[in-house]
Amino acid sequence: MSFREEYAEMRRLIEGRLGTYFNGGGIEEAMKYSLMSGGTRLRPILTLKFCEAAGGAPDEAIDFACAVEMLHVYSRIHDDLPIMDNDEIRNGIPTNHMKFGADTALIAGDALQAAAFRTILTAGEMFPDEGKGAALAAARTLAQAAGERELCKGQYLDTRPKTTTTNRELKDIGDKKTCAILRAAGEIGVYASQGRREVDPFYFEVARDYATNLGHAYSIRDDIIDAGKSAKKEGQITIVDLVGVDQSKKLVGEYTERAISALFSAHWIGPYAFLLKLADTMGERE
Ligand code: IPE
Ligand code: MG
Ligand code: MG
Repeated sequence: MSFREEYAEMRRLIEGRLGTYFNGGGIEEAMKYSLMSGGTRLRPILTLKFCEAAGGAPDEAIDFACAVEMLHVYSRIHDDLPIMDNDEIRNGIPTNHMKFGADTALIAGDALQAAAFRTILTAGEMFPDEGKGAALAAARTLAQAAGERELCKGQYLDTRPKTTTTNRELKDIGDKKTCAILRAAGEIGVYASQGRREVDPFYFEVARDYATNLGHAYSIRDDIIDAGKSAKKEGQITIVDLVGVDQSKKLVGEYTERAISALFSAHWIGPYAFLLKLADTMGERE
């Protein structure tokens, strides 16, 4: 199977499952609207693939993967709100608040965040008793990544007025805003496997290291794309402003290399070719 075919298969698996949640009207319609609006599905794919790396079948992690995607989608619904980035389009369609109003969008985001934790904890009920701790650890991992030290901190810092911004500060914001949930996505995949078997703790490390570097490559690539389209927000400073397009492209290459080298190890027996190609595609995205 080619990389593209495998990616498409993972996406089908994820979207098939995502479509089974939230079938009531009202608030559930608003939740489902954004959840089913496409996007890269990068985070849930990391969850499936790191479950596989740690010895499980990808579909053992399906609810865990969907939970990570719910958390991600909630963060974007709130990020797009008029009081935040005031964006009208995401994934090629009107943002949640354009379609349902800001009040409903706010609540739909809140409910998706709660649903993410419920989904992990419910999936963990299927684990044998000795594996149940893995679901609790997965929920805690997501809570840490989503909270005031990572995702929310990144969003907070990103909304503060920036006067003097350094590369280091931008990297730190990127790490919190983007890398944190990617890291959690990978680690949660390993926990999903651990619910049913012994897992070498080394896989948590690989997941973190790979996802962190993938996240930096991904967000710098986004900044390059936005700079090309003049799509940058007013007053926003990105790495492209600080170091220019060429140097930014070089950084994408360096982070991609680091993500790939995280997979090199005597221990590693995971889906190497897929994750290597996934890292490679970061620099190619248009
Ligand atoms: C993404 O940040 C939002 C979150 C991390 C919640 P941005 O505001 O920079 O990205 P896009 O362009 O809206 O996705
Ligand atoms: Mg934003
Ligand atoms: Mg935004």
